[in-house]
Amino acid sequence: MIINRSYAHRRVEMVKTVIVNVDPINPDISAIDGVAKGIREGKIAAFPTETVYGLGADTFNVDAVRKIFEAKGRPLDNPLIVHIYHEKQLDLIAKEVPEIAKVLIERFWPGPITLILPKKPSVPDEVTAGLPTVAVRMPAHPVALLLIERSSTPIAAPSANLSGRPSPTDASHVVKDLLDRVDYIISAGKTPFGVESTILDLTKDKPTILRPGPITVEDLLTVLEEVEISEAALAERPYKGIAEAPGMKYRHYSPEAPLILIEGENVVDRAKSVAIKYLREGRRVGILTCDENVSKYPENCYRISLGSLSKPYTIAHNLFSSLRKFDEVGVDVIVAEGLPSKGIFFAVNNRLRKASSEIIRK
Ligand code: TXA
Ligand code: MG
Repeated sequence: MIINRSYAHRRVEMVKTVIVNVDPINPDISAIDGVAKGIREGKIAAFPTETVYGLGADTFNVDAVRKIFEAKGRPLDNPLIVHIYHEKQLDLIAKEVPEIAKVLIERFWPGPITLILPKKPSVPDEVTAGLPTVAVRMPAHPVALLLIERSSTPIAAPSANLSGRPSPTDASHVVKDLLDRVDYIISAGKTPFGVESTILDLTKDKPTILRPGPITVEDLLTVLEEVEISEAALAERPYKGIAEAPGMKYRHYSPEAPLILIEGENVVDRAKSVAIKYLREGRRVGILTCDENVSKYPENCYRISLGSLSKPYTIAHNLFSSLRKFDEVGVDVIVAEGLPSKGIFFAVNNRLRKASSEIIRK
């Protein structure tokens, strides 16, 4: 397949977006059916999942899949995740399902883990960016599951943000990025986890994490003997070599202001001195911190706490909306505290690293 990167930057055809409000737990079937009909006709729709909002199309409709790339301004060499509502749809997508995948599916689906498997030839190259593998997941969200079922087709969907921006954890974020660039936005409140699914590659010698997420290394080790962690998942910068999850090679999740990430020892003291340096230059400084540390920073910084360190899932839940909040208030620079890479903090730190323009380590 010839991948023409400029295609992704072509002018987007403007459409009138239909916003469909539904209850996240008991979605109205007739409302979802209207969107499902659109998906079957080749339209694209943003919908909530338990991680972040996705922007979906019929996996087997190449023209519809192309519209996703156009609407997001996404490079065509960055493949999409295929979402299914039932294990029986796996046969449409994956050439084979290894034993290990069956164990993981039994334990974690529906849920926030994406598996990389060998693809069926019928899955379009546009979805997988020409790779011989496909990313599949079954989301644990009533709206997503119902939409996929009623569309009668697996739904290919990246996160529903403009390429490079923080992933959307609330319908308002999708509206901000994609209004009149997509056919539908299903609005159903905030997404529970707030960071994207764990991506686990099962086509390598050992199961390999390409992107850390809500299903943690510790969770995986309850069913797997060992787990490899790819360089892409560690997101050390500057990143050298070929990214295994193609999407991991781009700067991501980024607020408009540059984000400086402080890692290592004495994070608060070091973050504070960086903040004070910028304040002295007359800059408006944003601080991304936690409940335990928020009062330690100068009051003339714009401080956002992600929550208490004792509630790691709350911290993850608040991450992307906080990055967007800094854009709204308009800071010149953001100084962020790094977290210990354990449990779901591994995913949070990965996103912070990907969002950063500089990491200061000690
Ligand atoms: O939680 C999620 O995973 C959300 C919701 C909407 O499901 N989706 C999401 O999609 O985060 P996206 O497109 O933002 O990220 C998908 C990642 C990209 O980094 C892409 O490169 C990687 O999955 N990916 C897709 N297919 C792949 C493949 N065959 N091999 C390796 N990486 C793949
Ligand atoms: Mg994304």
